Amino acid sequence: MCGIIAYVGRRPCTDLLYQGLRKLEYRGYDSAGLSVLDNGEVRIVRAVGNLDNLERELKGGDGNGASTGLGHTRWATHGRPSTENAHPHLDCSGRISIVLNGIIENYAVLRDELSGEGHGFRSETDAEVVSHLIEKHYDGDLVEAVRRSIGDIEGHFAFCAVHADHPQLIVGARKECPLMVGVGKDENFIASAIPAFLSETRDVIAIEDGELVAVTPEGVEVLDLELRPVERDVTRVNWDADAAEKGGYETFMRKEIFEQPAALADTLAGRLGGDGMVTLEDINIPDEELAAIDKVYVVACGTSYHAGLVGRYVLEGWARTAVELDIASEFRYRDPVLSPRTLVIGISQSGETADTLVAMRQAKKSGAKVIAITNIMGSQATRDADGVVYTRAGLEIGVAATKTHLAQIAAIQLIALHLARLKGTKPPEELAAISAELHGVPDLLTDYLRRETATREIAKRYFEKPFFLYLGRGIGLPVCLEGALKLKEISYIPTEAYAAGEMKHGPIALLEKGSPVVVVATDGHVYDKVVSNIEEVRAREASVIAVATEGNEQIQSICDDVMYVPRTSEMLSPLLSVVPLQLLAYHIALLKGCNVDQPRNLAKTVTVE
Ligand code: F6R
Repeated sequence: MCGIIAYVGRRPCTDLLYQGLRKLEYRGYDSAGLSVLDNGEVRIVRAVGNLDNLERELKGGDGNGASTGLGHTRWATHGRPSTENAHPHLDCSGRISIVLNGIIENYAVLRDELSGEGHGFRSETDAEVVSHLIEKHYDGDLVEAVRRSIGDIEGHFAFCAVHADHPQLIVGARKECPLMVGVGKDENFIASAIPAFLSETRDVIAIEDGELVAVTPEGVEVLDLELRPVERDVTRVNWDADAAEKGGYETFMRKEIFEQPAALADTLAGRLGGDGMVTLEDINIPDEELAAIDKVYVVACGTSYHAGLVGRYVLEGWARTAVELDIASEFRYRDPVLSPRTLVIGISQSGETADTLVAMRQAKKSGAKVIAITNIMGSQATRDADGVVYTRAGLEIGVAATKTHLAQIAAIQLIALHLARLKGTKPPEELAAISAELHGVPDLLTDYLRRETATREIAKRYFEKPFFLYLGRGIGLPVCLEGALKLKEISYIPTEAYAAGEMKHGPIALLEKGSPVVVVATDGHVYDKVVSNIEEVRAREASVIAVATEGNEQIQSICDDVMYVPRTSEMLSPLLSVVPLQLLAYHIALLKGCNVDQPRNLAKTVTVE
């Protein structure tokens, strides 16, 4: 989820690129850089940290009169935040420069091949292979070199390249990551998001998947992979700057809910082979030690804890490993039984939650192995843990976690698959089948999100109710806990989430005619039991809103409203069933006039006990 801006025209471009990067700040960054073409040379400036650091580096530098250049804000996925890992990257000759957003899945293979052919690498990033590939394929034609390079790359990406031999040309290419051209007069821009050039032009050409674009001051040529010209209309956007930052969505939370397919695909990218083989690049614990683990202990807070609860089912089911879970603020004041054969997984989106950090440190002191699942490269959790599994959800701005939660579930599923293979608890063909299904979930989710209007209609019927009860069983229970947390934190409506089988032991007393009861009733081995619980709710004349599996028509006869999700195997179902609950909470909160991005009393990162 990095940010790209490129300019070619008649004006000095350093400040234009820098201002473009400022507009991409909302996407997050850990380092940033620019490269400009100046007097037949590529000049490059990079800095770690916020953009003020880059600005300091730029002051009084060379190349301030240059009128072609690239800029980049980095959100690290491969390689820690550092000046060497910041973009732009150069080839060996220093005459080709690139900026990239995305993930090159086969970068390790490409890097070995290119190193074998004599290319020298200066960074730890996957992106740098692109500048060397272009160098390898370049014979005077930059567009052709980019086209050939794309043929070598697996993954999803958007990138821009310049060559000192072509001072007025930028070549862009994309596969699955966004790339927009901003069309000006005697100048043009390319960016990963419209806000980067919105103050300069509102005329936009969207580059589609598998296309290249060659941009000069005079023109924009969109090409397919055979380099045949593609006709593309220019669209005029009328967003204000605020709407542009949200990519046209009304809130960051909504944008982030809709970014979940990408967050999931990115978290899986390059880590899960078709054969079910898992590669977790930063786990840092030898396979023999992982295979000998006899207990997993998950510590986390809030939404991250709910991801851990989902993890219990897959760790037990796939890896046949005993699992304990604790809320970090409780764990730290107990005396948990840990040993060198215990694997403690600390889950924290921010990687800075004080209680989770203390719990992880205590676990390490007791001799357990500690892994962090976090979205922030270089965060404290990554420094305290033995190993890390990064969720690659990109920056989450909405205080209520959505896309990071889904990515956390995927991360713990990857760990469970890895342990299952090392422990031999699942035959390879079953691991391969799970892998194939998991890779299909982002598309299912994209499809689901396209037809989300049903949730809004349901929200309209219930938003004035004073209390919501959530019920689920099995792997549907953590989904309910998460759905109930989302609703209470952004709409301020009191909620209770309960194991459906426990209802008759207390919470059923809360129900009266018309009380909304949200039930996760997706297909699975406890589905019939959930149906019995729905009947108990109906007997109290409460209203049932169910999350059910597509194709289950029968459930409509016992529920007031149904939110259907695509069919998956039971273990993967939370990746889909939590999404209607996020949307239900979202629409109810909006209908009540709440600020969903910044709910009262809450902070995105809780660095105090
Ligand atoms: C709820 C939410 C919080 C966080 C919790 C832990 O939407 O976001 O419950 O999950 O504060 O934060 P991290 O994951 O940063 O440790």
